[in-house]
Amino acid sequence: MKHINNTVLLLFPLILATGCAEKVKTQEDKTDLIMTENSALTYVLPTPRIKGDISVEEAIQHRRSHRSYLKDAITAEDLSQVLWAAYGITQPLQGYPQTRGGLRTAPSAGAKYPLEIYALVGNVRGIEPGVYRYDSREHKITRVIDKDIKKELSVAALNQEMISDAPACLFYSAVYSRTTERYGDRGRERYVCMDLGHSAENVYLQTEALHLGTCAIGAFDDAAVRAVMQLPEEEEPLYIMPIGRYFDVSEF
Ligand SMILES: Cc1cc2nc3c(=O)[nH]c(=O)nc-3n(C[C@H](O)[C@H](O)[C@H](O)COP(=O)(O)O)c2cc1C
Repeated sequence: MKHINNTVLLLFPLILATGCAEKVKTQEDKTDLIMTENSALTYVLPTPRIKGDISVEEAIQHRRSHRSYLKDAITAEDLSQVLWAAYGITQPLQGYPQTRGGLRTAPSAGAKYPLEIYALVGNVRGIEPGVYRYDSREHKITRVIDKDIKKELSVAALNQEMISDAPACLFYSAVYSRTTERYGDRGRERYVCMDLGHSAENVYLQTEALHLGTCAIGAFDDAAVRAVMQLPEEEEPLYIMPIGRYFDVSEF
């Protein structure tokens, strides 16, 4: 709980420093801070909660990959919670700049945190459509593409329509050099994808606890995905994970 409170405290200097926080949006969604940083739309996400209505054992028992989604909106709290589970800071650290904020919800070889996580927003209450980069340190998202590109991404991912159907997706890329500069080939061949698996499993379990679904998607055309996402050269695309209410059952 201490760390959650730290997160709340962190928000105030940030807002004062920018001097351009607008209090907008909604009682119902509580996503009430929107900032423009260098003209990019930025949302400080609702504070994540650390109690849910099911146990971790129940989440593990019921976890499945889901591939058919309702287009119904999810809430900003849902998105906030899923991003926090994926890569949120749970122990802020001063003096360790390589961690870019501190230790996180998912383990990482050498605390290098090579993953970058984007939120693709189509229908999330209180958040404008677009592609947002997640900032773990401040638990905020900043828009990098100002439209919903999930349809184009689903085409680039071998027409896996769950990507365009879902109201939101997470997208993972990795900056391999953060890990390989210390671990060399072992970092490239093992550690980055091990890190990815830890984070993605958190997303599976968190969505389960929110009565939402997800599916790890690794089958896609790398070059097409890179183009649709306008990824920086240093980032390699790794996973797409739709987030939403589902209506299927397991295929098995
Ligand atoms: C590395 C990896 C890549 C995957 N890629 C896809 C994919 O592109 N499309 C898909 O529908 N499912 C994908 N999956 C999900 C698996 O098909 C799913 O985990 C498996 O069928 C077992 O089902 P369960 O997750 O419900 O237990 C992927 C899973 C992993 C771990």
